[in-house]
Amino acid sequence: MANTEDNLFKNVISHAKEYGFIFPSSEIYDGLSAVYDYGQNGAELKNNIKEYWWKFMTLLHDNIVGIDAAIFMHPTTWKASGHVDAFNDPMIDNKDSKKRYRADQLIEGVIEKLEEKIEKEVEKAAKRFENFDRAMFVTTNARVVEYQKKIDEINDRLKTAMANNDMVAMKQLVDDLEIADPISGTKNWTDVRQFNLMFSTEMGSVADDANKIYLRPETAQGIFVNFLNVQKTGRMKIPFGIAQIGKAFRNEIVARQFIFRMREFEQMEMQFFVKPGEEMKWYDFWKDKRLKWHQALGLGNENYRYHDHLNLAHYANAACDIQFNFPMGFRELEGIHSRTDFDLKSHEKYSGKKLQYFDSEDNQNYIPYVVETSVGLDRMFLSVLASSYKEEKLDDGSERVVLKIPAPLAPHKVAILPLMKKDGLPEKAHEIMNLLKFDFRCFYEEKDAIGKRYRRQDAIGTPYCITVDHQTLQDNTVTIRNRDTMKQERVAIDAVKGIIAESVSMAELLKKI
Ligand code: GAP
Repeated sequence: MANTEDNLFKNVISHAKEYGFIFPSSEIYDGLSAVYDYGQNGAELKNNIKEYWWKFMTLLHDNIVGIDAAIFMHPTTWKASGHVDAFNDPMIDNKDSKKRYRADQLIEGVIEKLEEKIEKEVEKAAKRFENFDRAMFVTTNARVVEYQKKIDEINDRLKTAMANNDMVAMKQLVDDLEIADPISGTKNWTDVRQFNLMFSTEMGSVADDANKIYLRPETAQGIFVNFLNVQKTGRMKIPFGIAQIGKAFRNEIVARQFIFRMREFEQMEMQFFVKPGEEMKWYDFWKDKRLKWHQALGLGNENYRYHDHLNLAHYANAACDIQFNFPMGFRELEGIHSRTDFDLKSHEKYSGKKLQYFDSEDNQNYIPYVVETSVGLDRMFLSVLASSYKEEKLDDGSERVVLKIPAPLAPHKVAILPLMKKDGLPEKAHEIMNLLKFDFRCFYEEKDAIGKRYRRQDAIGTPYCITVDHQTLQDNTVTIRNRDTMKQERVAIDAVKGIIAESVSMAELLKKI
């Protein structure tokens, strides 16, 4: 991460704490690694992101319904899903820095660097030649061909090592690529070991293995095991989807970068059940829809890109990420996976219960195929927070920090500020708040100079401030200040609701998709 980006990220993190968005978990005991609490403003922002997703899925699609499954599930669930045997990450320690890494990520870092080199060559050539043909260039330029050959070779070795669970081959790859620890700078590595990411605990009073259960590492399995319950009770016809928002837990080896990679986090997942053979059509459909959902927030279309998975999981026949340009660069925000019939088939096998759909049009039973969309709520939060955070220099030479959060997601929609704490202004302000509070989350504040109060509202992203002054008492008008332009307008109290409603409406945001 470049130094300025590094500083910006640090500023975002400290701002999040200072203004009640995110606190380290159990901070009075020095915190708990990679676990965070959402404060009073963070909880509101998070709820609004959830609402945006939930309404998109369940209101805008009449064939998608939502559920809320338990975190604890029968332990066989995780045997069937493959998590007990295969939800592992290869870990490696540097003996000098004592830092732990994911070996596959270290290797992928080398691939990323080679890809950057290719992009640089492409950019240089594109500037030099008119009618630049990228496809032709990357297959003929000697340097690029060499880089690509190296990438393919590394990818092949990585894929084979992962598929065969071959940690010796993995270590050999780290050695052959001469990967050095970014902290110590040395290549003094331990062997690579597999590490299962699931947290386990015990259910019941007798602590033996039979009672060992897991905290779910993904919400998806709660949907799969309820597939028939929902299909039958909801009389759902294929294609249809089941959506869910909930906590997931992973004992991540490398859990750094604030709320990007946490040990306890939330997912918003949707499993879309389709007829076998139609999954690629729906995979493309959801890729497109989900990108549009992100882009409608207005955080900049250039900040999103697809990243196709080269190394597909054994159950997938297609998979990609929607990446976002986080402060530390483009990283996975959401996964879209065509999971075939792997999960339902496996649950059928382990449970002995039929998990099939009777298609009355074709007069046949089949196990549906599944296209999954899975976005991390906390990563969504980070994408919104980091890209909304602006340090601005104003015309009068002063500075302000403002969160330009998309208005429908802002924790508070309007702040109501009596200019003074006397002369009946607070009473009038409360009157206005009583008019607005049923429609919008309002913030009331009467302490400090008005300029200071505006800055505090900017810092938590409140789109509007209404100031109640002496003129208000005479003619029932107030000033309304726009967070982004800082322009103030005098308007009738009766007009305030309409002005705010237009820009903070979740419905209007959903209509943009
Ligand atoms: N059911 C599919 C699944 O869980 P995944 O790619 O492992 O797929 C989906 O996770 C999304 O969940 C990711 O794109 C990311 O946004 C989020 N996520 C995964 N691990 C996370 C973690 N440790 N901390 C925060 N978010 C995480």
